[in-house]
Amino acid sequence: MTTARTTVKPRGTAPAGIGITRRRDRWWLAPGIQATLFTVCATYLFFSGIIWTPLFGTAYKVDEYLSPLFSPLIKPDWLPTWISPGLFILWVPLGFRATCYYYRKAYYRFYFADPPGCAVGEPTIHRRYKMETAFPFILQNIHRYFLYLAFIPLAFLWIDAALSAAPDGRLRLGLGVAILFVNAALLTGYSCFSCSRRTQARYSLWQRLTTMNIHHMAWAWSSLITVTLADVYIRLLALGILVDPSIRL
Ligand code: FES
Repeated sequence: MTTARTTVKPRGTAPAGIGITRRRDRWWLAPGIQATLFTVCATYLFFSGIIWTPLFGTAYKVDEYLSPLFSPLIKPDWLPTWISPGLFILWVPLGFRATCYYYRKAYYRFYFADPPGCAVGEPTIHRRYKMETAFPFILQNIHRYFLYLAFIPLAFLWIDAALSAAPDGRLRLGLGVAILFVNAALLTGYSCFSCSRRTQARYSLWQRLTTMNIHHMAWAWSSLITVTLADVYIRLLALGILVDPSIRL
C-alpha cells in the first residue's frame, strides 16, 4: 500500500510465491474469517439497498423505523419504482468504507493476496502492479473527501434514531430504538478517525485524548455488522416476521 512512485515492487525478504511462508501459525484464519464476513455483509447490503425494494416492494421503513441504508430518505415523486432510493445515498458509505485505510489493508489481503499475510509470499504478478500510484487504485486517495461526506448521513442516522424514540409524540422504548442508537454510535466511532493530512494536528490531539483510533479495526467491523443487522431487523418488522418489543411512556 505504498504511495511511492515505483513501477516494480521491491522483492522484500518474504519468500516468493503465493502462500509460501516460514510461518507456522494459522496466518490464514483471520483473513479467511474477515473475507467471509465482509463478503456476506457487502452482498446483503447491496441486495437490500439496491435490489429488493424495486424487485419485491419490500418496505425499508416501518413504524418510524427507517433502515440506515436509506437515510436520509431521498425519494422524489418522479422516481420510478424500479430505482431504489438507496442509490442516492449508498455511494457515500460505500466509497468511505472502500477507501478506508483499514479496509484497504484487509481486502488487499483477503481478495488480492497482496500479500495474503505478513511474511507470506504473494503472486509474482503483483511485482508489476503500481497499486495506489496509478488508476484505478490511485482513487483511494479521495478517502479524506468521503470522510467529510460521510458525516452527512451520519447526522441523519442520529436524527432517525431520535425520531424512532418518539414516533407519535410519546416516548417509545423499544428494541428497534436501541438498535438504531447503537448503530449510530458505532458508525460515529468508526467515522471519527480523521486521516486527512490537513487534520494532522487534530489527529495528534485526538490520539492523545483517546484510544479509539487504536481500535479502528474493531469499530470498522462492529459498525459494518450493526448496520447490516439494523437493516435486517427493520426488514423483518416490515414483513411481519418480527414484532418490535417496546413500551410507550
Ligand atoms: Fe478508516 Fe479513515 S482510515 S475511516
